[in-house]
Amino acid sequence: MNTKTTVISQEQLQQQFAFCHKIRQYWLDKNRIPTAYVETYGCQQNEADSQQIRGLLSESGYAIQDSAEGADVVVMNTCAIREHAEQRVFGNLGALTHTKRRHPEQKIFLCGCMAGQEQVVERIRKSYPHVNGVFSTHHLWQFPQLLYQVLTTGKRTFYTQDEAGSIAEGLPQLRDDTLKAWVSIMYGCNNFCTYCIVPYVRGRERSRKPEDILQECRELIAGGTKEITLLGQNVNSYGKDLDCGMDFSDLLAQIAQIPGDFLIRFMTSHPRDAGKKLFDTMAAYPKIAKQLHLPFQSGSSRVLKAMNRHYDREQYLELVRYAKSVMPDLVLTSDVIVGFPGETEEEFEETLSLISQVGYDALFTFIFSPRAGTPAAAMEDPTPKEEKNRRFDRLCALQNQISETIHEGYIGKTLRCLIDGTDKELLTARTEGGRLVRLPGDPNLIGSFAQVTITGSTTWSLTGQLEP
Ligand code: SAH
Ligand code: SF4
Ligand code: F3S
Repeated sequence: MNTKTTVISQEQLQQQFAFCHKIRQYWLDKNRIPTAYVETYGCQQNEADSQQIRGLLSESGYAIQDSAEGADVVVMNTCAIREHAEQRVFGNLGALTHTKRRHPEQKIFLCGCMAGQEQVVERIRKSYPHVNGVFSTHHLWQFPQLLYQVLTTGKRTFYTQDEAGSIAEGLPQLRDDTLKAWVSIMYGCNNFCTYCIVPYVRGRERSRKPEDILQECRELIAGGTKEITLLGQNVNSYGKDLDCGMDFSDLLAQIAQIPGDFLIRFMTSHPRDAGKKLFDTMAAYPKIAKQLHLPFQSGSSRVLKAMNRHYDREQYLELVRYAKSVMPDLVLTSDVIVGFPGETEEEFEETLSLISQVGYDALFTFIFSPRAGTPAAAMEDPTPKEEKNRRFDRLCALQNQISETIHEGYIGKTLRCLIDGTDKELLTARTEGGRLVRLPGDPNLIGSFAQVTITGSTTWSLTGQLEP
């Protein structure tokens, strides 16, 4: 695997913009405005990548539409995190044979994390002949060149070589929400948790320069963005590869000092690299949301070791204790895996007890899914599927109870919320901790912060009323 970082030069980017203009001309000659559809699977990192893909398509003259039907270009930006995610993509990819039959000129591309796996690329080559091109995340910035090649030669084209992880500054982005923005601050991951495919498909950790990130944030805020979410697989190791004397907490503090009325969120934090400095920084700046997504994965120290997570149960609990001591209103969420190879009933119960002890507002719960090429896929896994399903159901039932109780505790409180949309006749809003609130009110309020008194709750959301 290639481990170097390549910073894509301005000259290389200019070449790509030249391809955008050639594509534009290609369609002008045909006297047609072409259309494109981008479908995104997986995490926010992929959402952010899709915004760049749409940006490049728009630069190439494409109008973006919201379905594959009749689109001249369809891009499937895929996720490889669990088998189920891949199966969905293969199913939907198969269904595109129909849209292509109705529109034979349609060009179909597959990109994202699945495109970083050799066996997936082979399967596409052999069994999905209607796919015209494949590019891995390392080649995203070369999409205009790939598209131009496919349009002009008609040949299937694969940009899937194992390249050095790259950073390309200055790619156009088409954001569909002006209120909220994702900002990638780093790419890749060095952690190699034994169950996880991400380091194999997204390469090594590489951080964007602080000045580039700050500049992007300033522009977003000047353009009316009210909520910025900083993205990375492990934001707490930001800057380690840069030698710029700045860590993630320093970056957060600098963003929080940009003038304007906005909130900063970030994900994901790895417990191994999160610490007091981060929590003190969060506590010190009102613009940093008191919300923390801190995946624990398992409550058993033995399982955590087998997962290569580099912390144990006690260290995790100590982190949470400190974070709550400096931020009493902290909203905590987490990821957890049930049925890691060899997980015993007792170890699973340690997970349940950790959940009860911490009291998360919400959990993202997953059943272990073996990923080809990762160490955990080769570990002995004697627990039957039915037993894993039972554990999963027990865990969800416990968390639902906790979420319900925590949500009930909101009733009567008045909180500052960002009004962000509508749902039927009601407005939707988010608390600083990221909880969803539905409330009656004037849609003109969308985009502003307001004081909301919570009047009701369910497991998943809250209802409220605007304060006069
Ligand atoms: N970088 C983030 C997580 C990215 S993946 C972090 O370290 O927290 C999101 C979540 O998917 C993980 O936290 C984990 O809970 C889950 N996950 C990853 N690989 C998985 C696998 N093979 N099976 C089941 N769940 C998995
Ligand atoms: Fe995967 Fe672990 Fe990296 Fe998260 S930190 S992306 S779980 S290897
Ligand atoms: Fe999926 Fe890739 Fe994200 S595997 S979870 S889209 S980093």
